[in-house]
Amino acid sequence: MPEDFKDRVATYTARINDRLNSALPPLATGPKRLHGAMRYAVLNGGKRVRPLLVYAVGECLSVDTNLLDAPAVAIELIHAFSLVHDDLPAMDNDDLRRGKPTVHKQYDEATAILAADALQPLAFSVLANVDGAPDDAAIKLVRLITDACGSTGMTGGQSIDLAAEGTVLSAGELEHMYALKTGALIHAAIVSPGMLRTDLPAADAEALDQFGRAIGIAFQIKDDILDVEGDTRIIGKPAGSDQSLNKATYPALFGVDASRNRCDELLTGALQNIEQFGQSAAPLEWLARYIVERSE
Ligand code: IPE
Ligand code: IPE
Ligand code: MG
Ligand code: MG
Ligand code: MG
Repeated sequence: MPEDFKDRVATYTARINDRLNSALPPLATGPKRLHGAMRYAVLNGGKRVRPLLVYAVGECLSVDTNLLDAPAVAIELIHAFSLVHDDLPAMDNDDLRRGKPTVHKQYDEATAILAADALQPLAFSVLANVDGAPDDAAIKLVRLITDACGSTGMTGGQSIDLAAEGTVLSAGELEHMYALKTGALIHAAIVSPGMLRTDLPAADAEALDQFGRAIGIAFQIKDDILDVEGDTRIIGKPAGSDQSLNKATYPALFGVDASRNRCDELLTGALQNIEQFGQSAAPLEWLARYIVERSE
């Protein structure tokens, strides 16, 4: 019976940091400035929530941890690339990320764009080279993650987010944007371990699909609440950034109380979805609660 997942967060965080470090091009090989910026973008902290979700679902489905590294690394590389672009002057124009200067501040804009450009194919190369997985697992993972980061996933959501600045969206429209810009990658992290099993019951796949959708949206609502109420020193990025950009966010459009209520509602629904896994879903329950209760 798994103990509290909290005990294993440090172990899994060290594991993903090690795997990311190995996947990234070494500093000693050129182009050194580009490789330096790629490593800075990925290895500069971060909560590693998406990889932790991969490992937690993997535990729930009894998938070999060695097989989980590829989707965990690939998704975190895509996430890091999305943050580098998100912070650029043309997008959210933020100077601080994970408590340090953003990549375009530490390096320069062109290097930041190129570093993000190079992180994206690196993610797919990691997936293509996954060893020991069932025959069609690599291609299924590539399909899942390309969809999650493309124009009907994260990139599409970012486009909607930019177009929505200064406008009023309905709750449904807002949640659609969240499901794309943030939810898609979180959902991909949650369903990816299922692709490493050849015999996953349809009911289990459906439960994780629903859990992933709800938690992905809750993650962004909580991010928006932290932008309003959080402490820059703890969140590691400039609090109040959304308000200064006139972003269409849940707290801006519906208030912080309604945002918190919606997060709780999404959490409750998500937890109901994974009840069928019993105690083996304890790590997932812990992470879901962390996502809506965190202060970082
Ligand atoms: C921030 O994601 C960007 C969003 C999708 C809301 P995280 O809060 O996971 O950022 P890091 O990786 O911990 O820095
Ligand atoms: C970003 O949302 C979502 C991404 C796909 C990167 P935000 O713009 O709210 O993320 P932060 O607050 O800058 O991390
Ligand atoms: Mg943004
Ligand atoms: Mg931003
Ligand atoms: Mg934000």
